Amino acid sequence: MRLLVTGGCGFIGANYIHYLFETEPGCEVVNLDKLTYAGNPLNLRSVEERHGASGDGRYRFVRADIADARAVADVFAEHRFDAVVNFAAESHVDRSIDDPSPFVTTNVLGAQVLLDAARKASVGRFVHISTDEVYGSLGPEGKFTETTPLAPNSPYSASKAAADLMVRAYVQTYGMDAVITRCSNNYGPYQFPEKLIPLMFDRASAGEPLPVYGDGGNVRDWIYVRDHCRGVHLALTRGAAGTVYNFGGNAEKTNLAVVRTILAALGKPESLITLVADRPGHDRRYAMDFSLAARELGFAPEFDFARGIGATIEWYAANRAWLDAVKSGEYLKFMEQWYGGRA
Ligand code: NAD
Ligand code: TYD
Repeated sequence: MRLLVTGGCGFIGANYIHYLFETEPGCEVVNLDKLTYAGNPLNLRSVEERHGASGDGRYRFVRADIADARAVADVFAEHRFDAVVNFAAESHVDRSIDDPSPFVTTNVLGAQVLLDAARKASVGRFVHISTDEVYGSLGPEGKFTETTPLAPNSPYSASKAAADLMVRAYVQTYGMDAVITRCSNNYGPYQFPEKLIPLMFDRASAGEPLPVYGDGGNVRDWIYVRDHCRGVHLALTRGAAGTVYNFGGNAEKTNLAVVRTILAALGKPESLITLVADRPGHDRRYAMDFSLAARELGFAPEFDFARGIGATIEWYAANRAWLDAVKSGEYLKFMEQWYGGRA
């Protein structure tokens, strides 16, 4: 199996490439990544060592922008891919509130450029990685299904929904074999510390205040990243063309509950929790009905929240150097600008 994976130096993409080399004998992977602030080739160091140019040659990294049609065409001219898995995206809601424009360029235009290149190259399958956030926000009851109307509320989720519609258009118009996966909030190794769980781990370890938006009662359905990777691969290998698959972790938690779990695991006091000004347009609750993926793909999450958060905290504690290394000047500047005015 020869795959083009985009965004493979980010959190989920890197976990997926590790998963591929562990579970898919003989796979060959080209990882196309722009290396934005969120992309880190060190996430794949062991893959590079074993399977890169000085290893068995089954892994290759290409630094390029998915929105750059010429660079993308060059990659397709050089390789014949069985499938494309598109993880590349601007992924942080708060950054999209600060500046929506790169979200449109990468998430919408980038997806269309990739779709076009894959179509021209007659690639067998295109898997587009999307999110539950395209469905908007739930009240206290109910779950999102694949037929819930799209009602995105942030510039991030609007850009993801736009890309999903472009994928749909390529299926309907050109008969392209594409599948969309929509997953709930991921957590686990290599997640960039701007997202809730690694951010709170980092701050709590240092005894710093933990900025919780609003009343802390917003609910997310947390899925361990390895389970999401398995779901993506099932969608790639077994999904029906033109289908959308929801994935979730069966782990609905309020943000306060998540933060308290992290504090308890680290033996830190709850007095570190600081309620700050709410995120504008903050979705109240997400929950996923993934019965279609269960039925058609045999998907079920293997990690419950207690096991997943335990493994995650252990990983971050053992990889302090990774955490410190990704906190670049750009990261510190954004954090100061975003949180500086909120406390
Ligand atoms: P991330 O921000 O950790 O990684 C994104 C990666 O994409 C980085 O390596 C970055 O360098 C790369 N990238 C960004 N712009 C690019 C461009 N123009 N060209 C090429 N590469 C580019 O994101 P993540 O959390 O790993 O999310 C991956 C995908 O999964 C995204 O599409 C996101 O919308 C989706 N998703 C994420 C979650 C979650 O909880 N993190 C949940 C559901 C879906
Ligand atoms: P996040 O990890 O940014 O994921 P998403 O917005 O895609 O769900 O945030 C998860 C939840 O945590 C969300 O309800 C916002 C909240 N949150 C805070 O309360 N404080 C923070 O500093 C951050 C980053 C998030």
